[in-house]
Amino acid sequence: MDFTTLCKERYSVRKFSDKQIPEEVLNKVLVDGNLAPTAKNNNPVRLLICKSEEAIQKAKECSPCVYGAPAVIIVCVDKDICWNSTDGKRSSDAIDATLVGSQLMLSATENGLGTCFVLLFDPDKTKELFSLPENIKPIFFLPIGYASDDCKPNERHFIRNKVEDITTIL
Ligand SMILES: Cc1cc2nc3c(=O)[nH]c(=O)nc-3n(C[C@H](O)[C@H](O)[C@H](O)COP(=O)(O)O)c2cc1C
Repeated sequence: MDFTTLCKERYSVRKFSDKQIPEEVLNKVLVDGNLAPTAKNNNPVRLLICKSEEAIQKAKECSPCVYGAPAVIIVCVDKDICWNSTDGKRSSDAIDATLVGSQLMLSATENGLGTCFVLLFDPDKTKELFSLPENIKPIFFLPIGYASDDCKPNERHFIRNKVEDITTIL
């Protein structure tokens, strides 16, 4: 798939089939995600891969947006490792995590899988249920799996600004 087609093919999957993801396919996606750049190349992103029934159940307790996925990647950062400005006002945490997430989503599409970027989750509950240490900050959930046969993109998928409306040529 060429890159533009890949970008068009990706959409937020909100209904998954219960087909499990073969390990080698999931690994491919994880390797692609891990190739994303991070601030100062600090590589602070940590991925919790919820695959067991118990882990999926916990993920469902933390977010209403698991959508029946056979796996949920909880994308986290290690706050002690990510870039922080010396005045402590800025951090690369969510940016590093999102760049990894973007590559995970596109690689998943390329490999026949669907994903949904999910911000609607309870961070405190996630830390508690998954026993995350203080330095590990969950940034977003990424349910991943095969879209169910009747899954279609939401109407919002087709709405984008025109490029000329969001750009200023200087
Ligand atoms: C930062 C961010 C947070 C999002 N949070 C959620 C969410 O909590 N639940 C959900 O179902 N979709 C969520 N989405 C998916 C967006 O609603 C979706 O990407 C957007 O409507 C465009 O549709 P598309 O992904 O199908 O192209 C989120 C997307 C982004 C980028």
